[in-house]
Amino acid sequence: MKRRTALKTLGFGIGGAVVLTGGGYGVYYAAAKQDTVGKVTFDKALSIPPPAESKVDSTGARVFTLGIRSGRTRFKAGSTTRTWGVNGTYLGPTIRARRGERVEFAVHNGLDQETSLHWHGMHLPAAMDGGPHQTVAAGETWRPGWTIDQPAASLWYHPHVHGSTADHMYRGLAGLFIVDDEDSEASKLPSEYGVDDLPMIVQDRAFDGDNQFEERVPLGGSLGVIGDEVLVNGAIGPYVDVTTGLVRLRLLNGSNARLYNFGFSDDRTFSLVATDGGLLARPWNTERLSLSPGERAEIVVAFKPGERVELRSYPSAYGGTLGRVDGFDDRLDICQFRAAATLSDGADIPASLGVAPDLAGEEVARERSFVLASDRINSRSMAMDRIDFGVREGTVEVWDVVNDNGFLHNFHVHDVRFQVLAVDGGKPEPHLRGWKDTVLLAPGKHYRLAMRFHGHTDPNTPYMYHCHLLQHEDNGMMGQFVVLGEGEKVGAVPQSHHHS
Ligand code: C2O
Ligand code: CU
Ligand code: CU
Repeated sequence: MKRRTALKTLGFGIGGAVVLTGGGYGVYYAAAKQDTVGKVTFDKALSIPPPAESKVDSTGARVFTLGIRSGRTRFKAGSTTRTWGVNGTYLGPTIRARRGERVEFAVHNGLDQETSLHWHGMHLPAAMDGGPHQTVAAGETWRPGWTIDQPAASLWYHPHVHGSTADHMYRGLAGLFIVDDEDSEASKLPSEYGVDDLPMIVQDRAFDGDNQFEERVPLGGSLGVIGDEVLVNGAIGPYVDVTTGLVRLRLLNGSNARLYNFGFSDDRTFSLVATDGGLLARPWNTERLSLSPGERAEIVVAFKPGERVELRSYPSAYGGTLGRVDGFDDRLDICQFRAAATLSDGADIPASLGVAPDLAGEEVARERSFVLASDRINSRSMAMDRIDFGVREGTVEVWDVVNDNGFLHNFHVHDVRFQVLAVDGGKPEPHLRGWKDTVLLAPGKHYRLAMRFHGHTDPNTPYMYHCHLLQHEDNGMMGQFVVLGEGEKVGAVPQSHHHS
């Protein structure tokens, strides 16, 4: 609460330029930093999102039924919190399917307003993407389907209504979508869901005095709402009873705006085994791992019998303009791991995992550049009826992306996985050497992203690219592209009931 009050008093504008001078800021500065280490009680077991049920129909398609609805969820003593969920009151089930499978969905919107479900990280036809052009009206059912055609990865789903994504996500609409394939099944990584393979949807929330979510701070930092309590899979401060020597965590930064710098309380080393788009070629050992909103990472952690250790978020070296205001200096306890007196020991972490990105040597059909600043990309604000450009199916493009105003931004592209070829001309750090679909943009640095567009041409239905800080995205830091088949030209977004 302290942070919000101070922010209101100082009147920082969202996304606006702020001059930090004067004694008032000094007072604010001291109050703004959050440190919850030692203050989280870890009194409930980590809840595991249930696997989504599915039926295989007569055509062989795996069919999932998802119901979006509102409800109330208990996060703390006292009042329950008004929330939204998928097949429940907060978050949704974990969808799971294999590469090569056809999946189909009945997505029923039981809310009193339109929303959508976007399959973040999925390679699929634009009309199935669940973006701003595929909203589902209140009371209606949307039935997308496609064949899974990408390597094993931890993807996710969330709403994507232009202008309302931040609010819809904040109320609780999100879930994991795990894709499996032969490589992941053969990999010998811990893989018993909910036992040694744990989904962890990490979200910060700000609660008001009546335990309701504070959806936005009217006058906040540069990012939108930054909460001071951290939920994992929809509960504050859970613990995990560890029964195996190795545990795999599928971390999703499901926050609207907060950057996490994950590490353990004893600074132990852990192994990064997969990034957004799938398994790394080989594990990378580290003590810290940053994830910006929308990014995922699979890590494997080794435990000793009887020990206790906490997963934390440490201050990050991001160095954005607003520092403490945007939470970069916070230290947050997230989850406690309690190892049993005896642990079943499994295999070691495999030395080789997936296939490294390989686009560096490809012929580049087209280079484009993207400058992110002031809620715009290349000085343009998102417009529903403007397709910014078309890419040619079957080609590789290189996109040069830069964050030009020092606030926290990242960059996400729909439909494809990309390879970070270079950061400011240098070799990317190890955690950026795997397949990505969302990348943190350190201020002023140029990120060269290579991606191949294949299949699913449609000159009239765009995919999105945008900053995944949801307030920025809603404010217009987003654009649209189409994938064109041979001889096709950029078309026009069909007129619809959607606002433009
Ligand atoms: Cu996670 Cu355009 O979205
Ligand atoms: Cu996406
Ligand atoms: Cu941004």
